[in-house]
Amino acid sequence: MDDRQRLDRATAHLEPPFAVLDMDALRANAAGMVRRARGKPIRVASKSIRCRAVLERVLDMDGFSGIMAFTLPEALWLASTGLRDVLVAYPTADRTALRALGSDEAAAREITVTVDSPEHLDLIESLRTPHPIRVCLDIDAGFTAFGGRFRAGALRSPVREPGQAAAIAADVVRRPGLRLAGLMAYEAQIAGVGDAVPGPYGGAVRWMQRRSRRELAVRRGRIVRAVRQVADLEFVNGGGTGSIEKTIAERAITEVAAGSGFFHPRLFDFYRGFTGRPAALFALPVVRRPSPEVVTVLGGGYPASGAAGPTRLPQPYLPHGLRYHPDEGAGEVQTPLLGEAAAGLRLGDRVWFRHAKAGELCERFPVLHLVEGDRVTEEVPTYRGEGMTFL
Ligand SMILES: Cc1ncc(COP(=O)(O)O)c(C=O)c1O
Repeated sequence: MDDRQRLDRATAHLEPPFAVLDMDALRANAAGMVRRARGKPIRVASKSIRCRAVLERVLDMDGFSGIMAFTLPEALWLASTGLRDVLVAYPTADRTALRALGSDEAAAREITVTVDSPEHLDLIESLRTPHPIRVCLDIDAGFTAFGGRFRAGALRSPVREPGQAAAIAADVVRRPGLRLAGLMAYEAQIAGVGDAVPGPYGGAVRWMQRRSRRELAVRRGRIVRAVRQVADLEFVNGGGTGSIEKTIAERAITEVAAGSGFFHPRLFDFYRGFTGRPAALFALPVVRRPSPEVVTVLGGGYPASGAAGPTRLPQPYLPHGLRYHPDEGAGEVQTPLLGEAAAGLRLGDRVWFRHAKAGELCERFPVLHLVEGDRVTEEVPTYRGEGMTFL
């Protein structure tokens, strides 16, 4: 039985649209990530999962420890359900949530928020909460060349050099309402950019990544040493799914973050260091045939975030050999699909898609159907299905 037959059989009782998680694929992907981390713990990026039941399951596996959350309300919610060690990896200006955090002893013990400037520290301190708030210092891990004319990497923190990092760490230590818990430096230009791309672009990416790794290993080590002279650090976090084995090779790194690797979405097909199995899929029904070589499925317009373009569209995955109409792409309520496989599809058949990114899929579906072999064994709510929309 091929994957399409297996998924069709497992879900024969369901009416599409719906989303599934292939648990064999998820476990194989998780095992691959743990192998690549060589004993350093992986903090699970919740934005790339967005389903509590799945988060709990992966945290039960060996090799994973702690959560990297994306908003403070999300972190408060997760902690209230018993999840521990939650790092909110993006700064917050949500005074209500910060007040709630600093007023709840258990939450204040388990949750860490991200800062990168004295303004963040002032905002937190101004709330005068009964319990000190744990903070993580975010460092710019981007790459620059040609005298700053070229830059790769996400625009995040303004803190880049050891002296700057030590100064803000000292500023945290001076404030009784804050505790410095950790340091984070996410190298998006390595972890999130595929290096297995043909042609000159691929060559340029690999050149940039080699140079960036060398530069970052030295700078990150210096930053960690400088900050450790000011305060103890419980953790030094870096990396993402695309860079696990590279990030953990640095002595200064105590843990790596990763999330996308579990679902292995389309954008993660282009890495030389690892392969994964598509674990999260959604099915759309064929609803009409505008012409003999075209079928139309219901819905489908679930583009991923980031700079818009064709790589952000879901991939028509099974049956193989389907593609979008160049004028229509993935539509709001209907999506025409062209290609050889279209001729063999009948009304009501499913077309299986992969999202370009990982967790955003769960904003479209209230539940994930968990597939074991050729059976759906469970249905678990996504964040959205639990009525939780954080972004
Ligand atoms: C701070 C941080 N760490 C790690 C990651 C990597 O997550 P993933 O493994 O899902 O690519 C991200 C993703 O954007 C991130 O923002």
